[in-house]
Amino acid sequence: MSTYPKEILQTYTTVFGTTTKPVIVRSPGRINIIGEHTDYNEGFVLPGAIDKAAYLIVALRDDDEIHLVAQDLNEEYRTYVNDIAPTINTSWPNYILGAVAQFKKLGIALKGFNAVLQSDVPIGAGLSSSAAVECATVFALNHLYNTQLDRIAMVKMAQRAEHEYAGVMCGIMDQFASMMGKQDHLIKLDCKTLEYTYVPFKLEGMKLLLLNTNVKHSLASSAYNDRRNECSTAVAMVAKHQPNVSSLRDVSEAMLDAYVKPYDTLIDMRSRFVVQEIQRLVDACNHLNHNDIAALGSKMFATHYGLSNMYAVSCKELDWLVDHVKDNTNVIGARMMGGGFGGCTINIIKEEAIVPLLEALQPAYESAMQLPLTSYVVSIDQGTSLIETYV
Ligand code: GLA
Repeated sequence: MSTYPKEILQTYTTVFGTTTKPVIVRSPGRINIIGEHTDYNEGFVLPGAIDKAAYLIVALRDDDEIHLVAQDLNEEYRTYVNDIAPTINTSWPNYILGAVAQFKKLGIALKGFNAVLQSDVPIGAGLSSSAAVECATVFALNHLYNTQLDRIAMVKMAQRAEHEYAGVMCGIMDQFASMMGKQDHLIKLDCKTLEYTYVPFKLEGMKLLLLNTNVKHSLASSAYNDRRNECSTAVAMVAKHQPNVSSLRDVSEAMLDAYVKPYDTLIDMRSRFVVQEIQRLVDACNHLNHNDIAALGSKMFATHYGLSNMYAVSCKELDWLVDHVKDNTNVIGARMMGGGFGGCTINIIKEEAIVPLLEALQPAYESAMQLPLTSYVVSIDQGTSLIETYV
């Protein structure tokens, strides 16, 4: 059985006493090997849940108050089931309240609850710390309200929580990976049909190393929504001529040549990246099936090039980190990961090369960017789970 940070139980009993018996849910962050900005275009993604997670300890109350404590931030937030609305001055309650809002939509009478949240998923690092909290909340409330939802239904509720309470029109990848993760496996997810397969992922002598730029761009969510709109524009331009086309999944580069490129080069570049990226993922999965990690790695570099130069969601710090590993033969693949404009690069690296790489990169990055460079070696772990229950 998984463990959990003991402080949350201590905080829970200090704040709420010992008369209610809480449940504890763990829900992880995620990495994505390849397939970026493809989920909301009905393409494929290849994420995995990681060994960093959000923990929520929660019990129902007899009244309809919701009393939340954020252990890491030492903050509290209180509201009532019937009063919930997105918060403005502080963002963390939104991921929990957005999940509650989805249960309200089920039309069942909801009691309030007490909860303590703690997470070791770094915030703003592109590791889906928010999806981890949304999934933990949906999973815990499903258990406590006895709503008997299946995991896919819970994934969709967690995604809607992000749309409605965080205002990011995200695709389904992050919540899917957090909820559905499997140890030592990636998830090849078809975001059009939600069909998925678990792909064994055990690196021999290599590790997944995340390098955190420590850049948190406040424009990230509005730029993300802009990219979604640019993709929709491309689909509309193609669909005028090809009525069967309903997403970039259905679009080929030849269609872009004919119906988009002559009229709008920016929309062409954005959508061409997505069309290429969907294909790149299919190729990368073939490489993985043949255990050809070198070929997979070169696809990751190609993805970075596209995200930076065509999709324009990178930043100078991410580009710097990829540039500084691309000629290092111990780094098999590297690219920026997630929505972009900051956060982490993901690197497949030979295990023995991690320490020397960090020793060289950290001071160079810090003096070039005036920011600290932090790093995490992650492994692929199980998805959302109830780790202990006293109910
Ligand atoms: C963010 C979103 C995901 C996905 C990625 C980019 O993480 O939440 O849905 O679109 O960006 O691949």
